[in-house]
Amino acid sequence: MSITYKDAAGVQGMRTAGRLASEVLDHITPFIKPGITTKEIDQLAAQCMHKQGSVSATLGYQPNGYPPYPASLCTSVNHVVCHGIPNDKPLKKGDIVNVDVTVIKDGWYGDTSRMFIIGEASIAATRLVKLTYEAMWQGIMRVKPGVRLGDIGHAIQQFAESHGFSVVREFCGHGIGRTFHEEPQVLHYGKPGTLDELKPGMTFTIEPMINLGRRDVKEHGNDGWTIVTRDRSLSAQWEHTVLVTETGYEVMTLSAGSPPPPTFVHG
Ligand code: MF3
Ligand code: CO
Ligand code: CO
Repeated sequence: MSITYKDAAGVQGMRTAGRLASEVLDHITPFIKPGITTKEIDQLAAQCMHKQGSVSATLGYQPNGYPPYPASLCTSVNHVVCHGIPNDKPLKKGDIVNVDVTVIKDGWYGDTSRMFIIGEASIAATRLVKLTYEAMWQGIMRVKPGVRLGDIGHAIQQFAESHGFSVVREFCGHGIGRTFHEEPQVLHYGKPGTLDELKPGMTFTIEPMINLGRRDVKEHGNDGWTIVTRDRSLSAQWEHTVLVTETGYEVMTLSAGSPPPPTFVHG
């Protein structure tokens, strides 16, 4: 399938789905404290989606070669890079966890994730979480017609590596709309002036996975989903779904609880 361009109705559908995904994160935020399990977070999110009249895009999701994903969201703790499956292990002070929510509303998909610091974390972990948020925004702020995907990837990579971190290569952002993962692929590294040109109506995610150590990842083991850093160093990720507008971008996955953009972002 090729890149899809959203008309006014599509944009409205994406706005609603995006806001709802973000509101699921708002809903679970006060509960994310030492002692809660990621399975409990999953149950809170499932209840919230039910109330919204939205449906989890991840529950039962089964791309080629994968087992069906068993939960309503992903919870990736510490050295887990992405696709962590909620379990019965309580979170403890000092953990960092990514919670990634994708909902479907009226056939449209909204995909967003945030990092949570449990209690207080090490200086290194706290810095990784903050700078990964800034790396995502380094990508978002460049989105406008005429810019190329390689420009976006380059900005993120440049920023992350200039702070001594590494960028995961095996997973990327993606076009999104009436399907979860569509064209184009949105790499979080790259060369300026390369790859697809952004055009109004495109919607895609920017979701950099940034490691404190080396960039290499591996499958964790037997669940078919969990991805970890090969060197077991910490990994962080943030995700927004964005629309290319006539003049720039609009973030689709915002809600009352969204953290503000970094101060280097204007307009
Ligand atoms: N939400 C993830 C993304 O950003 C995909 C998760 S797929 C799952 O693309 F099956 F692991 F949930
Ligand atoms: Co995504
Ligand atoms: Co996601």
